[in-house]
Amino acid sequence: MTMTSKTSKIPKIPQKIKKIKIEFLSHKPLETYQFGGFLIDLLKMESVFNRSEAQIISLIGNLGAGKTELMKGIAQKLKLKDRITSPTFVIMKQFKIPRQQRFNNFKYLWHIDIYRLQSFSELESLGFKELMADKSNLIFIEWGDKIKKYLPKNTWQIKFKIINKNTRLLQLDYEKSFIN
Ligand SMILES: Nc1ncnc2c1ncn2[C@@H]1O[C@H](COP(=O)(O)OP(=O)(O)O)[C@@H](O)[C@H]1O
Ligand SMILES: [Mg+2]
Repeated sequence: MTMTSKTSKIPKIPQKIKKIKIEFLSHKPLETYQFGGFLIDLLKMESVFNRSEAQIISLIGNLGAGKTELMKGIAQKLKLKDRITSPTFVIMKQFKIPRQQRFNNFKYLWHIDIYRLQSFSELESLGFKELMADKSNLIFIEWGDKIKKYLPKNTWQIKFKIINKNTRLLQLDYEKSFIN
């Protein structure tokens, strides 16, 4: 007689999390812009295809550190029609990613600047939670550290440090999960 153990539970596939860190020293605005293009290539390889939620990238650094400059490089790489601006009053801007440029189920790029945000509820009232729950969104947030505790664990972080007039240190961090 053979004995088989029955279980109604589907076994979990063991997953490992690896922390990835990439540092880049930018010597001029163009290099920060180009790092934006590199970031899109990296997202193509590393962002999860079958996500159930949006992918968020938090941009952290003082005024003039180059966060918006990076966004311009991203817009160029994705051939977005509208220009990236430094928002003054509008804090959330949606861009449709042209069909040929789409990857990993992303359809919209969002550029959010929360420098002037007073509280998370302000963002909620603009529908931010719905944006986060929608897997077709690729969301970049300038000053994302202000709402860090509300962001998912798989948020990518880029810290910008001003070294001198034309030099910036960019530090990218993300967690990569893979099946062991
Ligand atoms: N290596 C560099 N990378 C990015 N910006 C630089 C660099 N060197 C000088 N700058 C200048 O710093 C400013 C960055 O502005 P911006 O991208 O709007 O910053 P932030 O969005 O972080 O406030 C621009 O005026 C840009 O010309
Ligand atoms: Mg900016």
